Amino acid sequence: MSNPNDNLPRHFLSLLDLTPEELHRLIRRAIELKRMLHEGESYTPLGNKTLAMVFEKSSTRTRVSFETGMTQLGGHALFLSPRDSQLGRGEPIEDSARVLSRMVDCIMIRTFEHEKIERFAAHSKVPVINALTDLLHPCQLLADMQTYLEHRGDIAGKTVTWIGDGNNMCHSYINAARQFNFKLNIACPEGYDPDDSILQPARDHCLIIRDPMEAATGADVLVTDVWASMGQEEEQLKREKAFRGYQVNDQLMAQANPDALFMHCLPAHRGEEVTASVIDRADSVVWEEAENRMHSQKALLEFLLCQD
Ligand code: CP
Ligand code: NVA
Repeated sequence: MSNPNDNLPRHFLSLLDLTPEELHRLIRRAIELKRMLHEGESYTPLGNKTLAMVFEKSSTRTRVSFETGMTQLGGHALFLSPRDSQLGRGEPIEDSARVLSRMVDCIMIRTFEHEKIERFAAHSKVPVINALTDLLHPCQLLADMQTYLEHRGDIAGKTVTWIGDGNNMCHSYINAARQFNFKLNIACPEGYDPDDSILQPARDHCLIIRDPMEAATGADVLVTDVWASMGQEEEQLKREKAFRGYQVNDQLMAQANPDALFMHCLPAHRGEEVTASVIDRADSVVWEEAENRMHSQKALLEFLLCQD
């Protein structure tokens, strides 16, 4: 007897939606797709396939990497914003999911409440990809894990130190610590801790250490993000005060291992969460980290759309 769940699509709303083995395979595939592209090899398995890209928040990297990635794979990407679609005029999210998923092959969404993308996915016949919510940013972690593997090898057993807000990026690092088996030190000021629902299941891998210098000691990666995320613009001044002392600067980098990498999902605010001296170092990997958004998401699209 066939299982009624057999026809349900795989979604990528969180790093926990894939097994550790699937994630490792996907990262290795991203590196292979990058090599093929750089060597001029054409690979177009997504001919006639369309990705709908719903953006309720701004984006540079995510939009360009998904759109270009689809073109390279032989498919097409469609940009939808609430300003000029019915999504911004109150059409129920469930109806939008039902309708869009009858026409396109995959849907990528950047929105505010995580619950909204979950409701969307529950009513979609095609895979839904989380391109950032207030809770998680799993696509960025694919690129970050690829970047670490390319530069330093396997991240299992290494120490990553998160400096700053317990936000969507921090939450995805917590999930990555579980899936990729590394240790995560989290240095955030009191009142800006990550969500307990994300942290508790990962407590074997994660430790909150308030003092950034202590948290950075012996780290293999230092990673940070803006102090005020999209949607928190009015808290900017309050946050600048709260996060003073949580800047990744040369002194903090000196606490980490000599070959530690600095990562940032970008956009960055120099002089706030990171100094120019750290992010603009000649050997900074942040630009490659940004490029890897495209390679790793191509591997994700292939994984979701080319399964037999
Ligand atoms: N890192 C990232 O998601 O960048 P964008 O906001 O430009 O997409
Ligand atoms: N935490 C940031 C990430 C931007 C890519 C935000 O949500 O705005």
